[in-house]
Amino acid sequence: MKIEGSCIVLTGTSSGIGLELAKLLLERGARVLGVSLPGEDSCLSHRNFKEIYIDLSSREGVDKLFEEALKHFEEINAFIANAGIPYYEKLQKADWDHISAIVDINIKSVIYSAMKMKELYPQKTFNFMVTSSIMSYWPLPGYSLYSATKSAVHAFIEGLRLEWEKDQYLQIVFPVATATRFFERAGQPHKSWLIQTPQHVARKMLCGLIKDSKRIYPSLLFEVSYRLAPWALSFYRSREKKILRSYEVNSEQEG
Ligand SMILES: NC(=O)c1ccc[n+]([C@@H]2O[C@H](COP(=O)([O-])OP(=O)(O)OC[C@H]3O[C@@H](n4cnc5c(N)ncnc54)[C@H](OP(=O)(O)O)[C@@H]3O)[C@@H](O)[C@H]2O)c1
Repeated sequence: MKIEGSCIVLTGTSSGIGLELAKLLLERGARVLGVSLPGEDSCLSHRNFKEIYIDLSSREGVDKLFEEALKHFEEINAFIANAGIPYYEKLQKADWDHISAIVDINIKSVIYSAMKMKELYPQKTFNFMVTSSIMSYWPLPGYSLYSATKSAVHAFIEGLRLEWEKDQYLQIVFPVATATRFFERAGQPHKSWLIQTPQHVARKMLCGLIKDSKRIYPSLLFEVSYRLAPWALSFYRSREKKILRSYEVNSEQEG
């Protein structure tokens, strides 16, 4: 797509990948409507940037976002569903609310937003991009629920691609660990390997938008390893399993 002059809705702009992508899009001449949760602020100031604060984990929240977007823009050329939350945990309890919270923002909000775009523009060209995760292919210990949500949107986009018009570009991004507030928010106390910067991920997303790429892999190392030598990655999984187990032992000892 042509970035200059385009009208883009980008969710999750208060920090991390979304904030870096907003900066790049603005540099390239796009008009960006950014969205975050009430209370957080990206501190990004630009004549072509407007930030609104909406909780997108409900139908009303997403409806409100589209209402605001259509007041602000004559037309939405791209919708980037980047907002999401992680959990780092060993699942032990049947907790409906806990499950619903992550499903609502990571899955339902994304699917509903895609359908809103289709409803608005049944035949027109637009881009719809989702930030999934490498964990949609390759779940890690501590992230079962999170990985399940990212796999769900991955499968949804791949399926939808077979149903929609060819010039309604459905795009999916698979970042590896990225140095944002993600890990603090997830509650993961240890450092991951292969950490990328949010600037790098945002550059790859911008590139993907320009080329209308279907799938965007910010880590070439992961992509190559996963395709050619998936067994090599099992070392990393074993490391993560040991770490998760050690937390349990520690907390039992502390208790
Ligand atoms: N960092 C990684 O290692 C990594 C790896 C793979 C995929 N991802 C995915 O990348 C995306 C961006 O994450 P990030 O790493 O940049 O983390 P981040 O800095 O925590 O950004 C998450 C963004 O989502 C927003 N958000 C969360 N819940 C929301 C809700 N209910 N309504 C509206 N906005 C909401 C947050 O807003 P507030 O700040 O206002 O809460 C924030 O702007 C997420 O979908 C994440 O799952 C991250």
